[in-house]
Amino acid sequence: MMHRRLRLALVVSGFLVLSLTPLTVQSDEAEEKPAQKEPEPVAPAVPTNTGLLLEPPLDLSDFTYDQFVEMMSSVGPEKIRKPWTSPVVTLPKHPRADAKGLTADEVTAYMMQTKTLFDEGKAIPVSDVGLISTQEDVIRRPMLNHISGFVNDVVRVYLLVQKTSSDQDWGYYSIVQDLTVDPALDYYAHIKESGPHFEGQSCYKCHSSGPLAIHPTREDLVLDAALNAAFNQHIAEQPRSRPHFLTEQPEDHGEPLTLKFCARCHTQDEDGDRAALFQTHSHPIRVLVDFGYMPPNRRLKPEEIAELKAWLEEKP
Ligand code: HEC
Ligand code: HEC
Repeated sequence: MMHRRLRLALVVSGFLVLSLTPLTVQSDEAEEKPAQKEPEPVAPAVPTNTGLLLEPPLDLSDFTYDQFVEMMSSVGPEKIRKPWTSPVVTLPKHPRADAKGLTADEVTAYMMQTKTLFDEGKAIPVSDVGLISTQEDVIRRPMLNHISGFVNDVVRVYLLVQKTSSDQDWGYYSIVQDLTVDPALDYYAHIKESGPHFEGQSCYKCHSSGPLAIHPTREDLVLDAALNAAFNQHIAEQPRSRPHFLTEQPEDHGEPLTLKFCARCHTQDEDGDRAALFQTHSHPIRVLVDFGYMPPNRRLKPEEIAELKAWLEEKP
C-alpha cells in the first residue's frame, strides 16, 4: 500500500510540473518526469470457462485486423495513432484557483473542450474493440472505442468516441472527475448535438468506480498496446470517487458484494482501492472474472467461483 501511495504522489507532482507548460506536447517532457516503472502490458483476454458468462464467448475470427484499422480510421485518421510521452493530455489551469466543487457549467465546459481537442487531433486516444461491451448480450458485435484522457490540477476528464461495427456515426461520451472535493465526484454525460446530457444509472451499471481500465476483446484489436498499458496505470491510480447522480438521487442498490477475495479492494470502506460492487454491476463482474482480469493477480479457486456465482444469482 505504501508503495502505491508513493508512486501516486510522484505522478501527481509530475502533473503539476506539466500543467505549468503550454498544451503542446514537447519531446523533453519524458526526461522531466520522475523515474517510473514501465507499466505492465495488458494481458490478452482469454475466457477461463468459469461458468459465470451468460452467453458463450463471441467468435470474432472473421473480423480482421485490417477491417479493424479501416473502421477505426473512419473517425478521421488524423485524430488517432498520435505520438505520445504521457498517456493523458495536460489541460490549461482551471480559472477558479480555489474552487471547492465545480459548477455544472464548469463540468460541461470541460466536456466540450475535450471533445474539441479530440476533433482537432489534439488528444491521445487509445483505439480498441472493447471486451466488456462486445461480449455477453450488450451488443454482440465489435464495439469500437477511441478513449482519451486529460488532466489539470482540478479534474481528470475522459472522452469516449464510440460506435459499433455496423453503425455509421460516432457517439461522444464523457466522464469528468471533480478532484476539488473528497471523495472526487464523477459526472457522466452523453454529448449530443445540443451539448452534454448528464446520465447516471445507465452508466453506473458498468462504471461502478468511475473510469474503467481498457481491455481489448482480442490482443490485436488495439492500435497502441503500450499506450493502453500506460492509460490503465493512470486508471488504477485514480482517487476514490463517487457518481454525482447518486448524491442528488440516492438509489437503493441492495447489499454490496462482501466476498473477501473481491471486497478487500472493492469496498464501502473509504480506504479500499475501488468502490463497492452490487448486483447492478453483474455484467462487468462476469466478464472481468471470466476473462481472467479479476482478481488482478491470481485465478479464483473453484469454490470461490461457486460462491461468486451464487451471489450473482441471488434474487433480491
Ligand atoms: C455495458 C457497460 C458500459 C456502460 C453501460 C457504459 N460504459 Fe462507458 N465504458 C465501458 C467500458 C468497458 C469502457 C472501457 C472501454 C474499453 O475497454 O475499450 C468504457 C469507457 C468509457 C469512457 C472512457 C474512460 C474509461 O472509463 O475508460 C467514457 C468517457 C465512458 N465510458 C462514458 C460512459 C457514459 C457517459 C456512460 C453512460 C451514458 C457509459 N460509459 C456507459 C463500459 C460501459
Ligand atoms: C487487489 C485488489 C483487487 C481485488 C482483490 C479485486 N479487484 Fe477488481 N479491480 C481492482 C482495480 C485496481 C480495478 C481497476 C483497474 C482495473 O480494472 O484493472 C478493478 C476493477 C474491477 C471492475 C471494474 C469496475 C472498477 O472498479 O473499475 C470490476 C467489475 C471488478 N474489478 C470486479 C472484481 C471482482 C468480482 C473481484 C473478486 C472476484 C475483484 N474485482 C477483485 C482491484 C481489485
